Amino acid sequence: MATRIKNNVYWVGKVDWELRHFHGHELSTHHGTNYNSYLIKEEKTILIDTAWAPFSKEFVHGLAQAVDIKKIDAIVMSHGEVDHSGALPELMEMIPGTPIYCSPNGVKSLQGHYHQDWNFKPVRTGEKLSIGNGKELMFIEAPMLHWPDTMLTYLSGDNILFSNDAFGQHLATDKLFADSIDPCTLWEELLKYYANIIAPWSKMVAVTLKELNGLNLPIDMILTGHGASWRGEDVQKVMAKYTEFSGEYKENRIAVVYDTIWGGTRIMAEEIAKGIREADSEVALSVMNLGSSDKNDVVADVFRAKAVLVGSPSHNKGVLTSVAGFLEEMRGLGFKAKKAGAFGCYGWSGEAQKRLNDTLKSIGFEVLDDGIKNMWEPDAKAVEMCRAYGRAFAAKVK
Ligand code: FEO
Repeated sequence: MATRIKNNVYWVGKVDWELRHFHGHELSTHHGTNYNSYLIKEEKTILIDTAWAPFSKEFVHGLAQAVDIKKIDAIVMSHGEVDHSGALPELMEMIPGTPIYCSPNGVKSLQGHYHQDWNFKPVRTGEKLSIGNGKELMFIEAPMLHWPDTMLTYLSGDNILFSNDAFGQHLATDKLFADSIDPCTLWEELLKYYANIIAPWSKMVAVTLKELNGLNLPIDMILTGHGASWRGEDVQKVMAKYTEFSGEYKENRIAVVYDTIWGGTRIMAEEIAKGIREADSEVALSVMNLGSSDKNDVVADVFRAKAVLVGSPSHNKGVLTSVAGFLEEMRGLGFKAKKAGAFGCYGWSGEAQKRLNDTLKSIGFEVLDDGIKNMWEPDAKAVEMCRAYGRAFAAKVK
């Protein structure tokens, strides 16, 4: 199905209402996603991106209703990841010689995925493709947003930036613009996407945003590769949000994350949280069990937090695997300027809290103190210790 976006620009993507996991099972997608793809019908007909491979046939069938596929003059592949390029093999069987414009790294990733000698046209930042009627496409490399191959494409005349993963959200919607979406869901999914997918490359995001601003392009619309797109005043809003995200992003929030075996470390988490609240009535607070919570939602919460308290009981001379996995995730995501502390129950050896502190320090958190540990189940004295620790921690990060 084609939906007119502006003048001769159409959406020809796929709404995946069902999707609940992405990147294998690494990422939760509670609201599904869109694989957004666009068709430009000027003197030349240009396709920008495709859809994920399981939808190849649907995608090509829908595209054929919008245009005579043999009349497509060129394909722009913003990014080689399979959620955008997956329908290429099906399509290229029909139009095997059609030029594919992509970054030099895009050639490598597309060849690496599909092992085909397609008619690649590698392009660099600033290179242009005339598409007739006085309009042209300009390519802007955007490495690590989200792979080394990613590039943005700007359509002059219509003032549209095709951004692929950047500014996207995993959000299935047939209303294609952000101004038609429930804002809570929209901004929550934008942040979750950034925190879980883009955050490791924040420095490159800042570079790209600076480069984009330096080009002084009038941008009326940003058309994304996932979820809703942006128009009108939302263009500046989402760019400002990405600028915030790519800095040392934090809100007035503390995240308490833990796992527990028989509930002792849970009690510690909850009593620490009460102590935080006693010391600071304003700070937002979340208390999340890493064993039972959606890990990507936890990541999003920690991205928002100015400080995180991590708890695990001592277990098999270390920490619980859910907590170890969370810390490994934190290592890779590389959030900046977060303060941290550690806590946990133990029965005899009690290594967990030191292990947590050491790991937190090694992955870039500012650990504020030695943390606290409690032998066996928390009693009234331990409860007060946790409350006092929470109060002191809140005061340190206020
Ligand atoms: Fe939506 Fe990095 O692919």
